[in-house]
Amino acid sequence: MSDKDMKFETVEDARVAPVTRGQRFKRHCGRRWWIYLIAFLVIALAAVLGIIFGAIPAIAQDSVNDSTLQVDGIAITSPSNTKFTLSMNSTVHAHSPVSASFSPQTFEMYLPPAAGEPVVPFMQLSIGGLKVENTFTINVSDVATNIMNQDAYLQFSGKVLKNNDLDLGVRSSPQVNIGSIKFHVDYQKTVSLKGLNGLNGIKLYNATILDKPMADGTNMVTDGVIPNPSSFTLQVGDLTVDISTLGMELGYSVVKDLTLHPGDNRVKIYNHIHPELIDNLLFTASIKAKNTNITLTANSTVFNGEHIDWLEKPLHAAPPVIAVLNPSE
Ligand SMILES: *[C@@H]1O[C@H](CO)[C@@H](O)[C@H](O)[C@H]1NC(C)=O
Ligand SMILES: *[C@@H]1O[C@H](CO)[C@@H](O)[C@H](O)[C@H]1NC(C)=O
Ligand SMILES: *[C@@H]1O[C@H](CO)[C@@H](O)[C@H](O)[C@H]1NC(C)=O
Ligand SMILES: *[C@@H]1O[C@H](CO)[C@@H](O)[C@H](O)[C@H]1NC(C)=O
Ligand SMILES: *[C@@H]1O[C@H](CO)[C@@H](O)[C@H](O)[C@H]1NC(C)=O
Repeated sequence: MSDKDMKFETVEDARVAPVTRGQRFKRHCGRRWWIYLIAFLVIALAAVLGIIFGAIPAIAQDSVNDSTLQVDGIAITSPSNTKFTLSMNSTVHAHSPVSASFSPQTFEMYLPPAAGEPVVPFMQLSIGGLKVENTFTINVSDVATNIMNQDAYLQFSGKVLKNNDLDLGVRSSPQVNIGSIKFHVDYQKTVSLKGLNGLNGIKLYNATILDKPMADGTNMVTDGVIPNPSSFTLQVGDLTVDISTLGMELGYSVVKDLTLHPGDNRVKIYNHIHPELIDNLLFTASIKAKNTNITLTANSTVFNGEHIDWLEKPLHAAPPVIAVLNPSE
């Protein structure tokens, strides 16, 4: 403060206090310095806590929102009507400004609901702790998984079997650890997956009528190629389909212990042709001809002696599949 200011102030405050504001402040501080120190520390602490509990979680939530999840493969095996075995490989792309990790967490999976409809998870997947890096994998294998909601899971398996593409919702509320700071973020992603596209494009080869039927009644075997354009591995079990050609019922075919892997699946097909057709010239000619269309209508899937509703119902309800016997290409 300059002398002029001090004089001015002195005049102003002359009647109230004979000392200058500066002097009063000094004296006041002399006695109460510790109050100011505490106030300063409280404010500084509040700022630090604000960063820790406000800014850092907000930044972390933004990073989580910006991250992407890519599902590289899902395997659904050992099916039953209440549970199955789940394996999943996935890749996360993230940008974390600091070194961070996730504590073990549980993902819930669901079909993205229509606007206003509730989320109905049909399965959960628990995974271990993860270190966040720009790119990291979440691979889990052979996790016993309960079907949390039968209807929702049936809808999901129907889409997996029938659709070319489907969306899968994934959510969790993982604990993020940054040093000793711990907090939860909301994780929610919609992942695009390829489905099995109604098992379209089945090709049949090498139809061979057996001179003597097998004990189970199989009287013709064929080789089949079942394409699976998705990244799903699906254990189906024994698949039985009714077969017909040109509107004529031929009988039924069984693929035993079928597991559909991504890509082309080569299978042996055990056919139960109506006995009266086996010697029919029209039939024997048609199984030798090129590009004979065979209509397949899925009848049942049985694994471990159990009809698996969430496989059997969608397969049975789907439009028949046209398989081509002896394709020319
Ligand atoms: C996950 O990746 C491993 C290693 O490449 C592979 O053996 C396994 O079949 C994959 N699992 C799924 C479900 O795609
Ligand atoms: C995870 O699965 C991918 C295939 O999707 C594979 O390339 C990778 O090696 C697996 N990582 C581990 C750690 O198993
Ligand atoms: C058809 O039979 C031949 C001869 O046995 C075999 O080489 C070929 O792989 C079979 N085709 C299919 C699709 O399995
Ligand atoms: C077989 O079915 C396809 C459609 O899936 C059709 O385009 C084709 O004409 C059919 N072939 C015969 C010989 O009926
Ligand atoms: C197909 O399903 C019907 C009932 O929908 C059943 O009567 C028939 O036995 C089944 N055929 C085979 C081969 O399982």
